[in-house]
This record gives sequence, C-alpha cells and structure tokens, in this order.
Amino acid sequence: MTDLTKLEADLAAAVTAAPDAAVLETVRVAALGKSGSISDLLKTLGAMSPDERRERGPAINGLRDRIAGAIAERKAALEAGELDARLAAERIDLTLPPPPERRGRVHPTMQVLDEMIAVFAEMGFALAEGPDIEDDFHNFTALNFPPKHPAREMHDTFWLPEDERGERKLLRTHTSPVQIRTMQQGQNKTLPGWIAQGQAPPIRVIVPGRVYRSDSDATHTPMFHQMEGLVIDRAIHMGHLKWTLDAFCRRFFESDSVVTRFRPHHFPFTEPSAEMDVKCDRSGKDVKIGQGEDWMEIVGCGMVHPNIIRTCGLDPDEWQGFAFGFGVDRLGTLKYGMPDLRDMFASDVRWLQHYGFTAFQAPNPATGLS
Ligand code: PHE
Repeated sequence: MTDLTKLEADLAAAVTAAPDAAVLETVRVAALGKSGSISDLLKTLGAMSPDERRERGPAINGLRDRIAGAIAERKAALEAGELDARLAAERIDLTLPPPPERRGRVHPTMQVLDEMIAVFAEMGFALAEGPDIEDDFHNFTALNFPPKHPAREMHDTFWLPEDERGERKLLRTHTSPVQIRTMQQGQNKTLPGWIAQGQAPPIRVIVPGRVYRSDSDATHTPMFHQMEGLVIDRAIHMGHLKWTLDAFCRRFFESDSVVTRFRPHHFPFTEPSAEMDVKCDRSGKDVKIGQGEDWMEIVGCGMVHPNIIRTCGLDPDEWQGFAFGFGVDRLGTLKYGMPDLRDMFASDVRWLQHYGFTAFQAPNPATGLS
C-alpha cells in the first residue's frame, strides 16, 4: 500500500521546488493528471471494501485537496514573481532624454512660392493654374511665336511623342500659356466653374507652377518653377508694371534698399519687353541683395502684345495690360543664399534639413515673410 505521508512529502517538496510555471505543470500532471499518482490512488477506492474505503477515502481525498491547494498557491506565487521580475527588467528610465525626433522640412521653393503668393495676394492678385502638359497652341502659337520661328528654339522644349491625332504635346516651357487660358476661359461663361479658372477683365492673376526646359548648369535645371503675373485693365501702362515689380521686390526681400533696373529685351508676347535685374553682390560665395555692384536677372516682363489680347477674344483698343514671369527657385537662391540651383532638386535630405523651413514659418505679410 502506498505510503501517503511519504507521497505527500515528496509531492509538496516538488511543488515548492518548481522554479517556473512549466515545471509546476509537469508536477501537477504527474500527481493529478489522468494517470497521475494521486489519480491512480483515487481509482483504487472503487475496488475496496466499504470499511477500507471509509478509512482510505478521506485520507486520499485530503491528500488530493492539499496538493491541489499547494499547486495553486505556488502558481500564484510564481506568477507574482514573474511580474516582479518583468517590472524590474523592463523598467523605463524616465530620466533618459528621448531619442531626437526627425522633423520634416518645407522645401525652400515652396516657402518662396508661399511668400510670393502672400505679397501678391496683398496686392489683390488671384491665383490661377494650368496643366504641365501643354499643347503647341497655348505654349507658343497663341503667345505670338510664329511657326518655325527661332524663338521656339530658345526654349529647348521637351516634346512628347505624337498622340493618335498626330498632335505632339509638350512639357510647358513657361507659365505664360496660363495667360491665354485665363483670358479665354474668362470669356466662356458656359464652362463649369471648376474648369473656368479664367477671369473676365479686369484681370489680376498670378500663376505659380512647374516648367521644363532641356537645360542644366549651376543656374539652370530641366525642371524649375515660375510665377506668371497678368494684369489686364483699361489704361494700364509700363509705370504700373514697374511699380508692381519694384514694390514686390522690396516686400519680398524685406528691405527698402533693393535696387532694380529694367533692361530692354524681347519676348514674342510682350511689346515693349524688358528683363528686370536686382542689384547684388556676387563677389563672395553667397549672393547678397541690397549691396554690391552686380546685377542678377529675376523676371521677364512687358506690356501684353495686342495680338495676344485679340487671340483671346478681347479688344486691344479697350483692354491693355502687363505680364511678368519670375524664376521662383532663382529668387530663393538669391534670398536665402544657395550657391547652386541644382541642389534645390537633388533630394538631399541633409541639404533640406539645412535650407528647409519649419511648417510654422508660414509666410504672412503682417507678421513677416521669412
Ligand atoms: N515666359 C517668359 C519666360 O519664360 C517670361 C515672361 C513672362 C516674359 C511674362 C514676359 C511676360 O522667359
């Protein structure tokens, strides 16, 4: 007959010695499992005489209850211990500085565009946009570039393959096609509102956007940004143009000492045409505005050619105006002292971290632009 006292002592010792939940479980199975030592004992009760059962029954049942209780107790203790161990091992040191957070930056071109928009918005200009993929008509013909004229070549156009109608689209070489779209759509009252970005005269719009030319050196990239301006009204003259661009430069460069000059130039779609330069110092590594004896061209401009106004369905004897086209990225390199225009589009995160802006520096002419 099994010695219950010894069995209990052995089992109790095994329970106490179990170092973790897994070992404790094997002890439990060995004692109380289907063919465990205590389960086997319980099975013997059936074959006993009533007297024997009366004596052994309570002893075996008592043994089972005490061992089950001891296992439950040990289990709870082990779990508590595990939790303590985990709490100790996984404790977070709140005094450690957090790892540095990687913060995105606003690209200088976008910052400069926002600054320009803020200044022109204050002058009452509305925003207009046009497609990057243009047709020959809007990019050249309607802008008075005669067919085969060398002026078309000066733009080094990226042409797209012929489409099914035999037409070759192109990547727009300037934002000037939106002059045409604005004036034409301004006439067409039947276009749905979301397409009709146009205005009927008087017109005052700026057109920020990407433009493309097959060109690459320190001051030219195959893709860059322009901001077109178009003003059409009655009795508009060159004085309005000069004042607008001068006032813009003082606002944009945040200095009254900006000096500008207008040089005669040629564009097929303006007459007379000019380029405006700002006086700067290019002797050092960075270009400095408001000092020095050098000039840097920042904008092409002129009085809108009567042909353009006529092509768009307006009477040039009634409506005149001026247009201008800024190189946005170049303005950024000037204002923020970046030596090479190509870096603007090299997607170098270190460059962006250095020259980029935080999103909280949204330009506002009242509180400052930059
Ligand atoms: N579209 C011209 C260019 O890209 C700039 C310009 C715009 C000139 C408007 C005159 C008027 O060179």
